This record gives sequence, C-alpha cells and structure tokens, in this order.
Amino acid sequence: MPLTSTDQVLGTCPQALAQAVRAEVRRGLDWQQTAELVAVTLRRRLPDPATILPPPLLGGDEAGYQSHLLHAEPDGSFSISAMVWLPGQQTPVHDHVAWCVTGVLQGHEHEEIFALTDGARALRLVTRSENAAGTVSAFAPPGDIHRVRNTGTSIAISMHVYGADISRLGNSIRREYPLPIR
Ligand SMILES: [Fe+2]
Repeated sequence: MPLTSTDQVLGTCPQALAQAVRAEVRRGLDWQQTAELVAVTLRRRLPDPATILPPPLLGGDEAGYQSHLLHAEPDGSFSISAMVWLPGQQTPVHDHVAWCVTGVLQGHEHEEIFALTDGARALRLVTRSENAAGTVSAFAPPGDIHRVRNTGTSIAISMHVYGADISRLGNSIRREYPLPIR
C-alpha cells in the first residue's frame, strides 16, 4: 500500500498550476470534459520534481510508492499530489471516486486499464501504455479501473490532479479489485 501524507501539505504546488486548474474546474462541466481540460492545463505546466518536493521525498521509499499532497483546494473541489515510485513498485488494481489527471514528471510509468468480466468475478485487460516523462492522461469514472507500475530502472515521479478533496478522504481510490486477470 502507498505511504500517504495526504492530511498535510508536504510539497509545493506551483501557484500558476493551481490557478489554472481552478479556472477549469469552475467551468462546472461534466467529469470527462473537466478532466480533458485539466489535462491540457497540466501538459503545459508540468513542473520539475525538484521544485515541488523536498530532497528527502524525491528518493522514494522501499516500503512502497508514496503520495504527497501538494494542494487541497479550500472548497474541496480538487486536490493535487505527487507520487514517487521506486522501480517495480505498483498500485493495486483500483478505480477512483472522481475524475483524475496524471502527468509523468520523471521516469516511466506503465499503465494497464481493465474491465470487469465473467459476472464481475474477473478482470480483462483492455489496454496498456508506457508513459514516459511528459505524458499526461485523463480519466473519468466509470471505466477507470487501472493499475500503475514503475517498469523503469530509475525513480518515477508523477503529478496527480483529482476532482476530490484527498486531504479529507485520505486518497481518491473508490475501491480495489483483487480479482484474477483473464
Ligand atoms: Fe489511479
């Protein structure tokens, strides 16, 4: 499981990025449209990891991938975090409570997207992608069951924008899917 530090802000979110995300969220569009607009915004403003996390957090942790809160919007409408993965570390198969936009800042993240099959007793791989630094992806439930793994040989760092208040929820995972993959 991830080591999370989501109840307090430990990193720094660029003000211009938070302002730009706020402007898109306040349009009041549906989740898919909001996620796509936030993805465009994030793609233009992907920060250098060294500007958002203090040096001790850039090195990751052998205990598991880590999530560090960078910004929690006061009205609860969105949150921004940074995740740090050592080679081989991965999430469980999971989905989210709201839209989510991810941007790889450093290293490689391998992502697999699944669908339920066999009466929701198993998973079927729908697609997979190898996301290098600079890749931004947008998700909006339903259809966002996925797993992310650092398949590279170096530390991977990514930025995540969620349409939820993870300072209150702890994280944005709706549920995990510990099911066989067919
Ligand atoms: Fe996720």
